[in-house]
Amino acid sequence: MNKTETYLTLRSTALQCPRCHLAQTRTQVVFGEGALDALVMLVGQGPGRVEDQTGRPFVGPAGRLLDQALEAVGLARSDLYVTNVIKCWAFQTVGGRRQDRPPTAAERKACAIWLTQEIQIVKPRIIVCLGAPAAQAFLGSRFKMTTDRGRWHPTSEGQWVIATYHPAYILRLKSLDAVAYERTWQAFLDDFRQVAAKAREFPKTGTPEGSAGQSASPLSSSR
Ligand code: URA
Repeated sequence: MNKTETYLTLRSTALQCPRCHLAQTRTQVVFGEGALDALVMLVGQGPGRVEDQTGRPFVGPAGRLLDQALEAVGLARSDLYVTNVIKCWAFQTVGGRRQDRPPTAAERKACAIWLTQEIQIVKPRIIVCLGAPAAQAFLGSRFKMTTDRGRWHPTSEGQWVIATYHPAYILRLKSLDAVAYERTWQAFLDDFRQVAAKAREFPKTGTPEGSAGQSASPLSSSR
């Protein structure tokens, strides 16, 4: 099978995923999408309400903010691969309304096979973790946004991992604290400028010579 066939087969299997209880409450699985030869893979926490309805990652309010940042630094979303740590909407019901919540360890573990295989197919050289749950999946449970954000973490397989804020966090700040919002948004842009600069270090093909195309292994419980 070629790359596209492998991806489509994986995706159609994932769309039927019964691996955790979120299968009972989701509208649909939200599988990753984008360029299958992307240099840069963006990994979020998990789909929200709009993504659950549409079946596409990062198309709600957080996705629109992400798109603004990508445009500001000259990264075309169509050149990237965009996905999430978990593929189904995790929510809690507060006052009769469903609100996003971070995935539990069990949900992340059940879902890890999909992200692992997405990485094996796409073979990104740069992985951008959006928010702490994604960062912890790649950089370990000791990851702290305050100290570890915006720094490159090379993997033993030759990939570069960087973590930044989750765009939904930046959106929440907007209505709470204008100064913190502006500071955080600028830091988010700075992080994406670093991503754009790093991407320019790689040849256009996305697969520099000598690359065996191995992948980082997300959600390894030992880290
Ligand atoms: N938040 C995420 O982490 N992922 C999405 O796809 C949308 C919102």
